[in-house]
Amino acid sequence: MTQTVPPAVTVRVRRATADDARAIAAVHVHAWRWAYRGLLPSSLLARMSDAPREATWRETIVADGARRASVWVAELSGRMLGFVATGAPQQPGYAEDTAEVYAIYQLQEAAKTGVARRMLARALDDLRARGFRCAILWVLETNGRARDFYERKGWCIDGGARTDAVGRFVLHEVRYHLDLASGASTNAPRA
Ligand SMILES: CC(C)(COP(=O)(O)OP(=O)(O)OC[C@H]1O[C@@H](n2cnc3c(N)ncnc32)[C@H](O)[C@@H]1OP(=O)(O)O)[C@@H](O)C(=O)NCCC(=O)NCCS
Repeated sequence: MTQTVPPAVTVRVRRATADDARAIAAVHVHAWRWAYRGLLPSSLLARMSDAPREATWRETIVADGARRASVWVAELSGRMLGFVATGAPQQPGYAEDTAEVYAIYQLQEAAKTGVARRMLARALDDLRARGFRCAILWVLETNGRARDFYERKGWCIDGGARTDAVGRFVLHEVRYHLDLASGASTNAPRA
């Protein structure tokens, strides 16, 4: 895509509806393909398709509230540029007031325009309003672009690590933490 994105101020960030599931899935797959090139096997990226993700995102959005999950989208003139999803931690063992950023993805053309920063700020304000006091997220250890982004926003690596599998490929992920009250990170999640 060659179209450029104007300054983030013209971009609208709003809560997702079930009708956004298809566009969210398309951004998700597109973002994996540009951002994970060289990090994940190209055969795996080529095999990804929007349809199963569309169903999963629709379920997540519809279940919003019951699972305390929230999905936010950024759009420009009705076209989706990116999304962020947050909610209660997917794994057990965290304090009640700890939330998780499940995913933040944007189109390649929207990178470095401030769109992700605005989406994340909106999602974190929502978590604060819902009473969460800290947040965690998991990121591929090799995803330097995203890790730089989080670190610029005050997130700190906290020593948590896990492995996940996509097909036969093993993913190594590290955990980051943010104190939502101060906007700064402490060294340990409230587990
Ligand atoms: C990770 C990701 C969301 C980070 O996005 P990003 O492009 O670094 O973040 P932004 O869109 O907010 O751009 C920020 C930069 O845009 C620039 N910028 C340009 N115009 C701007 C504006 N009007 N307002 C704010 N920043 C602007 C600034 O240099 C800013 O850098 P700073 O935050 O250091 O000040 C993005 O790279 C992505 O979607 N990657 C693929 C998916 C992925 O890896 N997700 C993480 C999975 S864990």
